[in-house]
Amino acid sequence: MSRFSTILKAKAKLAAVRVAVTVIPAPRPIVLLGEGAALNLCNTVSHIGVKRVLIVTDAILVKLGVVEPVLNKLAALGIETVVFSGVTPDPTITVVNEGLAMLRMGHCDAVLAVGGGSSIDAAKVIALSATNNKTPRELIGILKGRKPSLPLFVIPTTAGTGSEVTIGAVVSDDQTHQKGLVIDPRVVPLATAIDPVVMQGMPKAVTADTGIDALTHALESWMSEIATDDTDYFASAAVRMVLTHLPVAFNDGKNLDARVAMGLAAHYGGMALNKAGLGYVHAIAHQLGAHYGVPHGRSNAIVLPYILEFNRDACSERLAELARKVGIATPDTSDRIAADQLITQVKQLLKDVNINTRIPDMNPADFPAMVVSAFAEAHGTYAVARYMDPKDVTNILHEIARG
Ligand SMILES: [Fe+2]
Repeated sequence: MSRFSTILKAKAKLAAVRVAVTVIPAPRPIVLLGEGAALNLCNTVSHIGVKRVLIVTDAILVKLGVVEPVLNKLAALGIETVVFSGVTPDPTITVVNEGLAMLRMGHCDAVLAVGGGSSIDAAKVIALSATNNKTPRELIGILKGRKPSLPLFVIPTTAGTGSEVTIGAVVSDDQTHQKGLVIDPRVVPLATAIDPVVMQGMPKAVTADTGIDALTHALESWMSEIATDDTDYFASAAVRMVLTHLPVAFNDGKNLDARVAMGLAAHYGGMALNKAGLGYVHAIAHQLGAHYGVPHGRSNAIVLPYILEFNRDACSERLAELARKVGIATPDTSDRIAADQLITQVKQLLKDVNINTRIPDMNPADFPAMVVSAFAEAHGTYAVARYMDPKDVTNILHEIARG
């Protein structure tokens, strides 16, 4: 397919995305913010009249003791709990089905996710599936639910995905590992607790990787062709907060101010991407995850500088506007220089938080298929600022392979 027809096709799909974005609402959860918010959220669960809640989490968080205070608080409020701790990174449909079976066996009337993006996404699909008489697989797509979810609550333990506010959830096919996206405003929780206490034990590498995921959501939303004043508002706040607070949270995990600021930055990034979408960073990063198992945030961190460089000319005005808005550039700096300053600052942040950019065993034989998948994702769903050629992406993959 020629470059011209590729772009034409992508633009036609984009027109449909624009309509969908306008029509599909993006409800927002009530946010409880700050130290103790996780336990306060249990009060909200109680106020709603929940009798028995399914806790969706992973085995590591249970072992680390992160879940226990929540269970104790719920018990003190007279709420029974059933714990599903089988969530794995990039949860598969089988994992989600296991959680759904526990919910049904336990006769739970609500779902509470305690975890990172994987647990939150699994909980979203479990809660939607439970009320809609549809399997998780049948919910993949846009607006496949017909009824509201079971009451859903979320305690994020990482500051990255912003999944507690997004209208999407990702589940993977067990065999192909292809990601299926459930897009439905019904998966937005009733309430979420952004609590630095549950984030303070997050390891350094996870803090860095997930924090850069939040930054990438904000930057890709900002660079999107369908960005609005609303999405810019949240995206620029998220960028400013990540640049300021991620190095602090990385160097001192117990700094609760930095932790809560990062939690909020991730939340704002999620609000921005709900309406403005993502871009090539995610489209290419997903391939690094699928082929080489690179964690989501880290693969974004690896790809991000290349896409910023690629966009330097295409949207230097926009990048400059952002640089001025977040205080990196002064009002009288030229667009070109201001955009450069922003890109330099992002690259410095990646160094400051020690992003591991090495991906062992990258195989150039994989690259053609990775390019096709990246384009299928980017050109079908994202409003990118400037279209790439297959050779552009291939070159980036070779550069990443060289480390
Ligand atoms: Fe992401």
